[in-house]
Amino acid sequence: MLNLVIFGPPGCGKGTQSARIAENFGLIHLSSGDLLRDEIDRGSELGLQVRSYVEKGLLVPDNIILRKIYKSAIRFINSSGIIFDGFPRTMVQAIMFDKFLKKKNITLNMVIFMMVERAELFKRLRGRAEDSERKDDKEKIFNVRMDVYEKETHCLKKYYIRQNKLLKVSGMYPVDDVSEKIAHAINHYRQKNEIFSDVI
Ligand code: AP5
Repeated sequence: MLNLVIFGPPGCGKGTQSARIAENFGLIHLSSGDLLRDEIDRGSELGLQVRSYVEKGLLVPDNIILRKIYKSAIRFINSSGIIFDGFPRTMVQAIMFDKFLKKKNITLNMVIFMMVERAELFKRLRGRAEDSERKDDKEKIFNVRMDVYEKETHCLKKYYIRQNKLLKVSGMYPVDDVSEKIAHAINHYRQKNEIFSDVI
């Protein structure tokens, strides 16, 4: 199995790159945001529970997202691997996720950290908002999502550096260029069991 996590601020390209990585390497793409939006669209009990958090740009409580991710991940335990997009997003989620992986005897191979300048993030989110159906794609919610990222998620960088799992990727280049760099780093990891330490 090849199991990856991708994280970074809203609009950094996590979803875009995850879809390409999943296709290139035959992985399952598990996007926590997509899973939650699907529950909301279906009007499920979980959807009703999480709707106001997602629409306000706030994080869904850890226990709810952890349950949802575990359940989804277990379905794919015999696959060739999973890319976790947007999860974990807090220290509690990261620690609990490690415990879950250990219990299931699953290795997390690499954590892809996408770096994009703030002005570019706003530009991308504004661009997508023009024809987005996402309720959180509104200018005033962008700021909330950015603040939540800074406060709750950015600290994961240090957590995964300590585990020697962090691959730092500049997401400031065109989509194809970023995909190529990531694919190169994954292939390098597969051949040499080594993660590039410089920003790619
Ligand atoms: P989520 O769906 O994960 O949203 P997000 O983190 O805000 O990220 P986005 O989907 O907006 O952006 P992205 O980084 O995926 O970029 P994308 O590829 O789309 O989460 C939504 C909500 O769900 C959260 O706010 C929270 O409420 C809840 N949630 C989710 N996970 C949770 C968790 N673990 N715990 C608790 N709550 C959770 O690209 C953005 C735009 O930029 C697109 O238009 C794209 O075409 C464009 N673009 C991408 N790459 C490039 C590039 N290289 N150059 C130019 N444009 C580009």
